[in-house]
Amino acid sequence: MKTIKKSLLTVSLLSAGLFSATQFANAGEVEVLHWWTSGGEAKSVAVLKEMMEKEGHTWKDFAVAGGGGESAMTVLKTRAVSGNPPAAAQIKGHNIQEWADLGFLTNLDEVAKAGNWDGILPQVVADTSKYQGHYVSVPVNVHRVNWLWANKVVLDKAGVKVPTSWDEFFTAGDKLKAAGVIPLAHGGQPWQDATLFEAIALETLGNADYNKAFVDLDQATLSGDKMVEAFTIFKKVHGYIDSNSPGRDWNVATSMVINGTAAMQVMGDWAKGEFSAANKQPGTDYVCAPTPGTDDAFTFNIDSFAFFKIKDKDNQKAQQDLAKTILSKDFQEVFNLNKGSIPVRLDMDMSKFDQCALDAMASFKATSKTGGLVPSMAHGMSTTSYVQGAMYDVITNFFNDADADPKQAAQQLAKAVKAAE
Ligand code: GAL
Repeated sequence: MKTIKKSLLTVSLLSAGLFSATQFANAGEVEVLHWWTSGGEAKSVAVLKEMMEKEGHTWKDFAVAGGGGESAMTVLKTRAVSGNPPAAAQIKGHNIQEWADLGFLTNLDEVAKAGNWDGILPQVVADTSKYQGHYVSVPVNVHRVNWLWANKVVLDKAGVKVPTSWDEFFTAGDKLKAAGVIPLAHGGQPWQDATLFEAIALETLGNADYNKAFVDLDQATLSGDKMVEAFTIFKKVHGYIDSNSPGRDWNVATSMVINGTAAMQVMGDWAKGEFSAANKQPGTDYVCAPTPGTDDAFTFNIDSFAFFKIKDKDNQKAQQDLAKTILSKDFQEVFNLNKGSIPVRLDMDMSKFDQCALDAMASFKATSKTGGLVPSMAHGMSTTSYVQGAMYDVITNFFNDADADPKQAAQQLAKAVKAAE
């Protein structure tokens, strides 16, 4: 009798739609702005959507295409200014501080405390996620930016080794050209130019002066000899890319390395997400190596979601659940396997990760002790968006002007930074 009563109750609950309502009490909607639209990126963010839906919440996707996120940031500003921000937006580094300073972001300390974020996150990651000591954003991953990706079959065929210095790069590049291969796949967009330039500058300046230039914005270092050398090498590298480079998306450049039209690409490890989505294996199909001369450094780029102040109570609950989910071990594993990055938690089982990710993790840990862990300028980690924009302009103009002079460029860089500070 009891069982019948119970099953009847279940049936009536189900038919009244109450069962799902009780199971997902306080289900809400999360609108999430991001720029993850390439193959590997879309696969990664889909994991978060699925997990939120499993918890009963509705995911409203707000994807704005454009690597590096410039377009996404423009759209976000319009939405926020009109008083209708999304629940969460992919915002990074100094931009988090800028948004928090304007009073847009909500406080996540409660969920952070419950999840012991201070205990599980590396210091540098926790610091990036906080504003005046309070969590206002959730870190998703750590990307290493100073990576060189190479098609192994193409290199072997041309009898070329992965270059460990820019001189070696030029020698290898000449051989590859002779073999009819584009030595370097590059997308001619300001953020990609900056990504390549900062890797070269990291080598010529060394870790300490890299920080002096891109974090402290020291005028003498910005205009100094080592910066001139960086611009000189940068100019020479231009001779090893193809003429269709202007405007090319980064993932199109990666696909050129995957299919063998090009041999190498300088790009953060989101490029690995593309290799993985194409079922390519590191070590056999492709190689990941630090960009020439930077194996003792790790240029970091931490992706985060900043959380906006919203009014609806159920949506606030969904927001808190999103924050919690992002730092769960399950999400950290699947997401980062797809994305090419390493987890933000240091207490993860890394057994499913490939050699590139294991190398990145080892380097992240080692460089955080040696001073080689440096913030990426190109990805908004080292300075404000204003200074970053000023640097982008000088770097891109120089790269696209065959007559530009390296010495003048370094002086312009210093001047532009001073004006933007
Ligand atoms: C970066 C972002 C990466 C990757 C890349 C290309 O700014 O941090 O996660 O998505 O842009 O879109």
